[in-house]
Amino acid sequence: MRSQIVSDYEQLSVIPTSGILGAEVTGRDRPLDLADLDETTFAELHRAWLDHRVLFFRDQDLTIEQLEAFTERWGEFGDNPFVEPMAGHPAVVEVLKEAHETDMTNFGGGWHCDWSFMETPPSATILYAREIPAWGGDTLFADLERAWETLSPSMQDLLHGIQAVHSARRSYAPTGSLGDGDDPRRTMKVTASETAYDTTLHPLVRTHVETGRKSLWVNGIYTIGLDGFTPAESTALLGFLIDHTEQQGFTCRFRWAPGSLAMWDNRCVQHNALNDYDGHRRLLWRTTVRGERPS
Ligand code: SIN
Repeated sequence: MRSQIVSDYEQLSVIPTSGILGAEVTGRDRPLDLADLDETTFAELHRAWLDHRVLFFRDQDLTIEQLEAFTERWGEFGDNPFVEPMAGHPAVVEVLKEAHETDMTNFGGGWHCDWSFMETPPSATILYAREIPAWGGDTLFADLERAWETLSPSMQDLLHGIQAVHSARRSYAPTGSLGDGDDPRRTMKVTASETAYDTTLHPLVRTHVETGRKSLWVNGIYTIGLDGFTPAESTALLGFLIDHTEQQGFTCRFRWAPGSLAMWDNRCVQHNALNDYDGHRRLLWRTTVRGERPS
């Protein structure tokens, strides 16, 4: 069971974004500068992150190096398969859709946990907004802990011990939704590959290593089946579970502005970048923190 959300922060003001997850964080007595955090403030930030699972910050003025340094306070950089990082900054990916990229799948579109097909998917993703359309381009987040907690005890009993099959194929195989690397209109450098067909097994019910809380750890982009089930059984049960995780009541929504930064916990949160701003440029810098093998 989740802990009571505490609001006894000394350095921070932490305002929940929805009744489920997410919080906007500012300094209590002075502006919060993510490039200049003392140990006490960082420890409070860590606690707020575990309590709310997605944190949002406004009006940050970070260089790439400061974004890298902020990321490294949380752990080692994660890897970035299939996407080319920024020149000279191997841990930073530019999430970019140009105004001319109309009627195309956007990077990050559709509900997913980042790189859940990896053996050790990232624990955290950090996204820092540089250029944001005048309207549209919000990101949705959904709480996989609440998804787990709201299943019946009978369904929870059934799901314990099941391994889910994760794969990058729907996005990064040559026929995948982002596998159009040859399309000259796409500005993000995506390298589609046969390796996207590889599969990885992860527990359907994941226990968070820091909080001990359980999540229903599936997502509609990368979870392609349930191990040990027939295709028909897997389609029916997984389809139900994915629909369950995507309920509006488990979500919060973030409206970006240049200088906004979001940091989410991939171990218990999925997200979905809305693609409703064709004809406008959207640019964010993205880093990840290396995670552990889900268990
Ligand atoms: C992502 O999935 O990492 C990108 C999310 C976004 O662009 O809002």
